[in-house]
Amino acid sequence: MCGIVGVLGDHEAAPIIVDALKRLEYRGYDSAGIATVHKGVLESRRAVGKLVNLSDRLVHEPLRGKAGIGHTRWATHGAPNEANAHPQSAGTVAVVHNGIIENYHALREELTAKGAKFLSETDTETVAQLCRYYLDEGASPQEAVEKTLQRLEGAYALCFLFETDDNLLIAARKGSPLAIGHGKGEMFVGSDAIALAPMTSKITYLEEGDWAVITRTSVEIRDVNGKLANRQMRNIQLSAMAADKGMYKHFMAKEIAEQPTVLAENIGHYISDDHTRIDLRTDEIDFSKVTNITMVACGTAYLACMVAKYWFEKIARIPVEVDVASEFRYREPPLNPNSLAIFVSQSGETADTLAALRYCVEQNIKTVGVVNVAESSIAREASVVLPIYAGVEIGVASTKAFSCQLATLAAMVLYASQQTGQTGGHDLAELVSAYHALPGIVSQALQIEQEVRAISTELATATDALFLGRGDMYPVALEGALKLKEISYIHAEGYASGELKHGPIALVDKDMPVVVLAPKDALFDKTVSNMQEVMARQGKVLLITDKDGLKTAGHGVWRSVVMPRVHPVFAPVVYAIPVQLLAYYAAVSKGTDVDQPRNLAKSVTVE
Ligand code: G6P
Repeated sequence: MCGIVGVLGDHEAAPIIVDALKRLEYRGYDSAGIATVHKGVLESRRAVGKLVNLSDRLVHEPLRGKAGIGHTRWATHGAPNEANAHPQSAGTVAVVHNGIIENYHALREELTAKGAKFLSETDTETVAQLCRYYLDEGASPQEAVEKTLQRLEGAYALCFLFETDDNLLIAARKGSPLAIGHGKGEMFVGSDAIALAPMTSKITYLEEGDWAVITRTSVEIRDVNGKLANRQMRNIQLSAMAADKGMYKHFMAKEIAEQPTVLAENIGHYISDDHTRIDLRTDEIDFSKVTNITMVACGTAYLACMVAKYWFEKIARIPVEVDVASEFRYREPPLNPNSLAIFVSQSGETADTLAALRYCVEQNIKTVGVVNVAESSIAREASVVLPIYAGVEIGVASTKAFSCQLATLAAMVLYASQQTGQTGGHDLAELVSAYHALPGIVSQALQIEQEVRAISTELATATDALFLGRGDMYPVALEGALKLKEISYIHAEGYASGELKHGPIALVDKDMPVVVLAPKDALFDKTVSNMQEVMARQGKVLLITDKDGLKTAGHGVWRSVVMPRVHPVFAPVVYAIPVQLLAYYAAVSKGTDVDQPRNLAKSVTVE
């Protein structure tokens, strides 16, 4: 969602800010803006749409000054127009904000009654107006910000810039992450460290409730109680992971192709040196004491949880409940004290998942965060953290994080079997060996790319598509449908193939592509019989199966894709590849913005 940049530099700030905002584009946004202070004058430029519009504006109306703030806005309160874009200014202060100020209505009324004139519909303008009010009363910038923060309810990452001082930024964090970058005689603020990568590798993350007074040579951080706080400065080597598409046209293509490598990295962390046992590298989880598991996540991470439910229940024999975080957090579910709660999140910052985690922490339930971003809020607040080692994921549509989430969850399942001796009739040694072999099989699966590309070009002409799967292929069908709608804007639905007759079969006609995910496993015949029902109604079936599956059931299908043989338990990791490629190439064929699809954000930091 919104991206924040602040610069107290030694050079002109505007180009540095635009560059940093480019690195935040992946978060999703619909307008952007910059403010700088030059010779005692605070000025801003804002533009709707992509950053290129802001850059064009800056060519014609440049902004001078070595101190500035910038923002990419994902609209919440008020349409994505110029007036609502950030920075929001009032008098001598400008502010950029990520989050939602929940009491903005009341504050706006109060300030309007005192004579403030609002120019936007945003909650953020309230912050600027409130700060201005305190400044007008004679408060210093620090005092004004402190008073302002005390009045705000909701979530925020904020960065303030003042006309009266071009050696001052004030940053504050509550609910949305914010990083301070330390340069030589320069200082930076960013909503994530990626934004600051080329400027510095020395990063301090603000903690919940912190606010920081920053000059070119100093940072003073206060905690939620106003006490001086000592926050660790870390050396974060970002250059290697800095956003670079390499030889690929899109980050999504690069991230799909990276899956064998990141899976090998992931599995390497969770397998013993002799590759015979799982080693979670923590003694904090004792599955022999766990009676049931609650899994909570959003989007693609939620679908990874759905796959893991099948695994935990079938193999480790532990009952699992899976819920989307936005529902879980308000459901007030009673939780068994011996349950384990697992939160899966690429970013570790998804607002609903974080709130669900906090609910479980309050209930004294043991919590596990399965995250990609090690410094994230979920990583910090969960009792145990299992990183997924996917590397930076930039494409809004999650791909390599999904497979690494699955691999991490698979490690947990096998570890549970190791601890409890419950394997659901499976041979544990065989499962560990199949788990270890996964990167190689995923690499083979990627060989189908050109075939899928050709099919996607045809798929791209459809207006609707169905994805069917049974058992642990059902969540993969949901993921296929989610990916397709996210980036190609083709309406798609994922269904458990056994549910076909209870509704979606009514949609089937000669124009409707139906993607059937059916490895030749114990449920193959059942899925194929549902596929036959589609074909009997002239539905266009794309069958994704293996060699044996194709031999048995390939006759008469519209198109087929043959996957490498994989242990049936781990088929979801491998069958995720064709559905990612289908969506990717359908989007490329339609010419949509693959890495930044309309209206979507990489990390959803507001409810
Ligand atoms: C957004 C992203 C998805 C992601 C979901 C959950 O919707 O576009 O790709 O799966 O958020 O994000 P998280 O960071 O919690 O995994």
